[in-house]
Formats: sequence, C-alpha cells, structure tokens
Amino acid sequence: MAERVCLQWIAPRARLATAMVALVASSTFAAETIDPGALKRLVHQDCGSCHGLTLKGGLGPDLRAQNLRHHDAETLSGVILDGIPDTAMPGWRPLMSEEEAEWVARYLLEPEQ
Ligand code: HEC
Repeated sequence: MAERVCLQWIAPRARLATAMVALVASSTFAAETIDPGALKRLVHQDCGSCHGLTLKGGLGPDLRAQNLRHHDAETLSGVILDGIPDTAMPGWRPLMSEEEAEWVARYLLEPEQ
C-alpha cells in the first residue's frame, strides 16, 4: 500500500522533469542559456537607447566594432556587467549573466554572428 502511494507521487514528477528538459533543449539552440535573438534585441533597444539605435553613439559613445577594437572581450564584458562609475553607463549585472555579457561583448566586436 505504502509503495503504491509512493509510485503515484513520483511518476508525474518524472514526466514533468522530462518535459522541462525538452523545453530547455528546444529553446536554447546555441550555448547553455544564451538566446542570441533576445540579446541582439537588447543591444539595439536597451543599449541603443543611449548608444543610438544603430550603435553609432548618442548619449553614450559609438559602440561599433571599429570604435571598440582597443578593448578585448573580457574588458568589454566587465564594463557591461559593472558599468562605468560616475557616468550614465549602468551596470547590467542585475539583468544578465556573465555568459550573456561575454556574448554581447563578442557581438559588439564581431556583429556578424
Ligand atoms: C543610460 C544610458 C546607457 C545605457 C542604457 C547603456 N550605456 Fe553604455 N555607456 C553610456 C555612457 C554615458 C558611456 C560613456 C561613459 C564615459 O564617459 O566613459 C558608456 C560607455 C560604454 C562602453 C565603453 C565604450 C568605450 O569606447 O570605451 C561600452 C562598451 C558600453 N557603454 C556598452 C554598453 C552596452 C553593451 C549596453 C547595453 C547592455 C549599454 N552600454 C547601455 C551610457 C549607457
């Protein structure tokens, strides 16, 4: 009797776990939790609100690759995560993971991906 109760409880959970794995696998095509489409939208809309929709500069400087070549991806992802103190450049750590910031940094340096 006790054993039957136990199996009834476990079976639906096992199905739920399988469904969740399938969902995660289908929604993240590239690397673990990176969603390139969403990050590209974020770069052009959110970053673009200060840096210009085409990233040519506005309140914030030009973010096109030719202007960022003096930085490596690691420096850029640090700037993205922590912002630049005493300027309008905010830190994005509350809104994105380190992996996402690295993706954005590489995307800025090499937009053709
Ligand atoms: C609220 C406005 C604002 C938003 C939103 C914003 N930035 Fe900035 N950003 C700035 C300003 C202003 C500077 C220049 C700071 C300074 O004076 O050094 C800057 C500087 C930078 C720099 C350094 C550029 C260089 O040539 O050294 C990078 C890289 C950068 N931002 C990336 C981003 C990214 C990526 C996003 C979106 C995730 C973003 N920013 C969103 C205002 C903003």
